[in-house]
Amino acid sequence: MRNILVTNALPYANGPIHMGHLLGYIQADIWVRAMRAMGHNVTYVCADDAHGTAIMLRAEANGITPEQQIANVQKEHIRDFDGFGVHFDHYDSTNSDENKARSEEIYIKNREAGNIAIRPVTQLFDPEKGMFLSDRFIKGTCPKCKAEDQYGDSCEVCGTTYNATELLNPRSTLSGATPVEKSSDHYFFKLPNFSEYLQKWTRDEGRLPLSIANKLDEWFDAGLADWDISRDAPYFGFEIPDTPNKYFYVWVDAPIGYMSSFENYIKTKRPELNFDDYWKKDSKNEVYHFIGKDIVYFHALFWPAMLEGANYRTPTGLFVNGFLTVNGQKMSKSRGTFIKAETYLQHLNPEYLRYYFASKLSDKVEDSDLNLDDFVQKVNSDLVGKVVNIASRCAKFINTKFDNKLSSECAEPELVQSFINAGDSIAKAYESREFSTAIREIMALADRANQYIDEKKPWALAKVEGEEQQVHDVCSVGINLFRQLAVYLAPVLPALAKQVQDFLKLESFDFASRKQILVAHEIAQFEPLMQRVDSKAVAAMVEASKDSLAAPAPAKAEKKKEKKAEKKTEPKIGEAEVIGIEDFLKVDLRVAKVVEAATVEGSDKLLQLTLDAGEAETRNVFSGIRSSYAPEDLKDKLVVLVANLAPRKMRFGVSNGMVLAAGNGEGIFIISPDSGAKPGDKVS
Ligand code: MSP
Ligand code: ZN
Repeated sequence: MRNILVTNALPYANGPIHMGHLLGYIQADIWVRAMRAMGHNVTYVCADDAHGTAIMLRAEANGITPEQQIANVQKEHIRDFDGFGVHFDHYDSTNSDENKARSEEIYIKNREAGNIAIRPVTQLFDPEKGMFLSDRFIKGTCPKCKAEDQYGDSCEVCGTTYNATELLNPRSTLSGATPVEKSSDHYFFKLPNFSEYLQKWTRDEGRLPLSIANKLDEWFDAGLADWDISRDAPYFGFEIPDTPNKYFYVWVDAPIGYMSSFENYIKTKRPELNFDDYWKKDSKNEVYHFIGKDIVYFHALFWPAMLEGANYRTPTGLFVNGFLTVNGQKMSKSRGTFIKAETYLQHLNPEYLRYYFASKLSDKVEDSDLNLDDFVQKVNSDLVGKVVNIASRCAKFINTKFDNKLSSECAEPELVQSFINAGDSIAKAYESREFSTAIREIMALADRANQYIDEKKPWALAKVEGEEQQVHDVCSVGINLFRQLAVYLAPVLPALAKQVQDFLKLESFDFASRKQILVAHEIAQFEPLMQRVDSKAVAAMVEASKDSLAAPAPAKAEKKKEKKAEKKTEPKIGEAEVIGIEDFLKVDLRVAKVVEAATVEGSDKLLQLTLDAGEAETRNVFSGIRSSYAPEDLKDKLVVLVANLAPRKMRFGVSNGMVLAAGNGEGIFIISPDSGAKPGDKVS
């Protein structure tokens, strides 16, 4: 049994939880539940990130104190996480006495170790508000192209980056006043002191995803810089010890919140746990932080350095999730895809989303798309069509004909045993956060279970006299198979699992419990377990998420794009925009094999291709190649697929990728790798 402390990134206390946040929280919650189901001792804590200028100003705008602001938001956050089954052992706030004490201690230890420097910094200051202004609170005229109304860091019109002090006619967005330059002392954390330590730390086994460690090397090559950790008053945060009117920058005390939340968990709920067992330098217990990819810098550099400087242990590993897009694009208020947790819960069952995310997540730092059509389709076909269906097909016979009791002997011990055995690799997949692999394996089992019932046809047997025993046996096997699936899905679908556990009258639903086959076992009355997703409810959720006040932001850009699309002449070689290798590498090209090709009713341009790209499921792609290819020419042909193209909804269905072909106006020529290439091979 391992002792593990798990944390999630602490959400800011100035806004609601949305679908993007939930990706990481649901991921961590599934992992915690799975590790517990495997018998490990896991503590799972989080907190609101309560400090900083943004929260201070939000409170001011709302006409309340920062303390009221963070208390209100914390209630909403707890409600939303709870609604999605994200169950923390403890949920705290970084604005706590314990966090203050811990932050001071870590700072002072670092100061004593020579890791703090003080030097003056000149910044723009709002004389009316009496505060220093960060770039996003300053606007003015671009010094280069003279565009008006540009922010303090860069010009959105010409793309120039500059210092806020270079803006022409600068003004404070807070008061409208003209800012003045002013100098004050700032406190710095000497990150370069930890250069060598961090270069090694980030390469330690299991510490970071490889792609992140590689990215960090670029930063090491560029050289680490001192980190400005102080902010002048007014600021909502903790005062720096011995330094009146200067506060810790929010990112100093935010990660320390992981420690103080755990400390408060012990204080309030689990006095038998010991803080040092988890945080002292040589602790053998494990600590993992689940974070989004945008906050890696803080967690992989500043945080371990601060801990090392204060003689604490550092995290065992960082688990990093990519970003969420909705329908292939950044979440947008005008499109109704900026969906708040609260809005979702008013329309849909949270377990649908947990399942959908699980089916997409792996241990890689990859972005995930919540495609709403695909979401409806996947949940309905997998959960309702495959899994729940097994129980509803078998339970009614057990309930009505056999007095709620399963057969006294298992009629298919080998089949049931093979389901039990499959649990080992499913557990491994969970443990290594390969959730999509776990789901794929579980759904393959569900297919086999349905196949078994389809072959035996208990509903037909039930009409034949003298076949009662058969019906009883088949349905009992079906219930046993269903039980295996429910145990495996329990980390993802805790509410469904609870219902199934009650229905099957089982004391334990952890992974080991599955090994006991159910014979002569009494079950309860079957109740419907999960409804189909209603696409009308999805549409209503999108409608409710539309902010009529939000400007349809990309309108201008889209118009421009439309114009460009009008002149459809292809550029000559050498005329196309020059791109760097990094742009080219963004395109994920893969070998795929055409499994099926068909014409599309209502289109004389398209063929519908079913492609095997070496993934769990085949891909559907609509390709405008009908003028040059007949479907039968394409079967088994190897093609090159743009695998990470955002899915596109077409009149005929969703196209999920693009097949490469050359065109000269007279014909279309599919690019096909030489034989020997395998579906899924990377093309570069
Ligand atoms: N307060 C900081 C974290 C401090 S941790 C010591 C913060 N808060 S946040 O509210 O902006 O984000 C909380 C988490 O949600 C982060 O892990 C962030 O990466 C994640 N996400 C926010 N938007 C997201 C998406 N659109 N997609 C996936 N994750 C997203 O950062
Ligand atoms: Zn400009």
